[in-house]
Amino acid sequence: MKMLLDPMGGIVVTNDGHAILREIDVTHPAAKSLMEVSRAQDESVGDGTTSVIVLAGELLGVTEPLLDRRIHPTQIVQSYMKVLDDINEILRNLAIDINVDDDAEVARIVRTSIDTKFVSRWGSMISDLAIKAANIVRVKLPNGKYEIDMKRYAKIEKIPGGSLSDSHVLEGVMFNKDVTHGRMRREIKNPRVLLLDCPLEYKKGESQTNVELTKESDFAAILRQEEEEVSRMCASIVAVRPDLVITEKGVSDLAQHFLMKANISCIRRIRKTDNNRIARVTGATIINRTEEINESHIGTQCGLFKISKLGDEYFTFLTECNNPKACTVLLRGASKDVLNEIERNLHDAFCVARNVLLDPRLLPGGGATEMALAAELSKRAKIQEATVREYPFKAAASALEVIPRTLAQNAGADVIRVMTALRSKHAQGENFWGIDGVSGKVVDVRESQIYDSFVVKEQIYRAAIESSAMMLRIDDIVSGTSRGKAGQEGAAPAVDEETFGDSRDG
Ligand SMILES: Nc1ncnc2c1ncn2[C@@H]1O[C@H](COP(=O)(O)OP(=O)(O)OP(=O)(O)O)[C@@H](O)[C@H]1O
Ligand SMILES: [Mg+2]
Repeated sequence: MKMLLDPMGGIVVTNDGHAILREIDVTHPAAKSLMEVSRAQDESVGDGTTSVIVLAGELLGVTEPLLDRRIHPTQIVQSYMKVLDDINEILRNLAIDINVDDDAEVARIVRTSIDTKFVSRWGSMISDLAIKAANIVRVKLPNGKYEIDMKRYAKIEKIPGGSLSDSHVLEGVMFNKDVTHGRMRREIKNPRVLLLDCPLEYKKGESQTNVELTKESDFAAILRQEEEEVSRMCASIVAVRPDLVITEKGVSDLAQHFLMKANISCIRRIRKTDNNRIARVTGATIINRTEEINESHIGTQCGLFKISKLGDEYFTFLTECNNPKACTVLLRGASKDVLNEIERNLHDAFCVARNVLLDPRLLPGGGATEMALAAELSKRAKIQEATVREYPFKAAASALEVIPRTLAQNAGADVIRVMTALRSKHAQGENFWGIDGVSGKVVDVRESQIYDSFVVKEQIYRAAIESSAMMLRIDDIVSGTSRGKAGQEGAAPAVDEETFGDSRDG
C-alpha cells in the first residue's frame, strides 16, 4: 500500500496503480506518457493498472543493454511487435472457458482481482457485492449480446459508520434526500412513481430577466399568474394519482401544498444520473412537461419507498423492485479513507465481473501466465531467422518475469528460490504453476483458484508492449516550453528554435 499526500494536504491510502499515479506529480514527458497507459487501462478494462505500468517499465529497462550493443531501436520495435503477436496466440491457447451462469466460478475470478487488495481480509464479501451488482445491471440486447454499464447504473454510496459487513447491494436505489415537507408520507408500499425533470414553480429566466411594473395591480397579476400556473401543473400531476413525485428541479411551497393535499410525497433536486437509475428500477419515464403525463409514464415496479436515517442524515430508499436493472451498493466502513479505498477495490471488482460476464474466458493468475509466456517466448527466440531478433525476444521474456517476481517479493518469499522453481516447472511445459500470494509458495494455480480475466491480461500485454515500443521510437525530447520552465529537474533541456525545426524535419 502507498500513502500519498495530495497538494491540498489530504491523504490517500491505496494500492490501486491508477489511483497512485493520478496523485503523483511528474515532470518527465516519458513518465507522463506512461501514466496515460495506466489511465487508459483503467478506462478500458478497469483492472491491471499496476501490472501494465510495472511491465512497461521493465520492457523499457531490458532494452537498455540491447541499445548499448548497438541494436537499432527499429529492430527492437519490430521484434516487440512480433512478440505481441506471439503472445496473443499463446494466450488464446492458455485460455480457459467458463460458464457464467455458475456464480461460484465467476466469484473465483472476481476474488483474484481483489486478493492483493485491502478488502481481501473480508473474504468473498466484496466480490459477492460486485457479482450481484453486475448481474442486476446486466441487460440482454436485441442482438443477443449483453450490456453491462456499471458506471451509469451501479452507484456506490459510501456512508461512514457501521461495519463493512453491513454493506449490501440494494434491489433498487437509494440517494441522500428527504421529502420536501415533514408531513408527507415517508413509507409507501408499491408506490406509483412519477419522475420529472421540470420545476414545479415559476419558470426562471435563462439569464438576467427584468420586468418593469408600473402599477401595483400588475404585480398582483403576476403573482396570480404564477399561482395559476403552478396549480395547473399540480392538477395534471394529481390526475394520474401518483404516490411519489421526484423532480430534478425545484418545487415551490405552493406546489408542495397542492401535492400534500392529494397525499403525494415529493422529493426535489435529485441528480440527473440518480433520476436515470430510478427510471430503470421503477419503470417510470422521465417527463419534461406536466401536461403530457399519462398512465404509461408512471413507474410501478418498485415494492417499497422508505426514508430512513443513517448516521444523522436522511436517505431515500426505493427497494424491493422487480427486475431492477440498476442498483446502489451501500458501503459502510470505519472512516472515509477506508471507504474510499474500498470503493476503488470495488470498482476493480465491478470491472472484472463485467469483463467476465461479457467475455467468459480466464487465464491463470499469480504470475503463471507470465511465466508460461516467458518460457514459450524464450523457446521461440531460438528459431528467429534473423539473428538480431533473438535478443529482443529474450529480453521481452525476461521482462515478463517481473510480475511473478514482484508477487513473490510482496508475499515475503525467497525470490531467487521461487523464481528458479517456477522456471523449471514452466520449462517442462507445466503452464499452471504460479505463486500463492498469501503463503509465497509455488503452487498449481488451478488448485488455489487464482484466475484473471482474459480481457484484462490481454490488454495489459498489448498496452505495455505498444507503449514501450512507442517510447523506443523516440530519439529526442524537444521542449516546447520556454527555457526558464523547462530547465527544471528531470525535464527536457530547453532547445533552441533552430534545433526544434531540425528535429521535426528529421
Ligand atoms: N492470491 C493470489 N496469489 C497470487 N497472485 C495473485 C493472487 N491474487 C491476485 N494475484 C495476482 O496479482 C496480480 C494483480 O495485482 P493487483 O490487482 O494488485 O494489480 P493490478 O490488477 O495490476 O492493478 P490494479 O491496481 O488496477 O488492480 C495479478 O497478476 C494476479 O494474478
Ligand atoms: Mg487488480
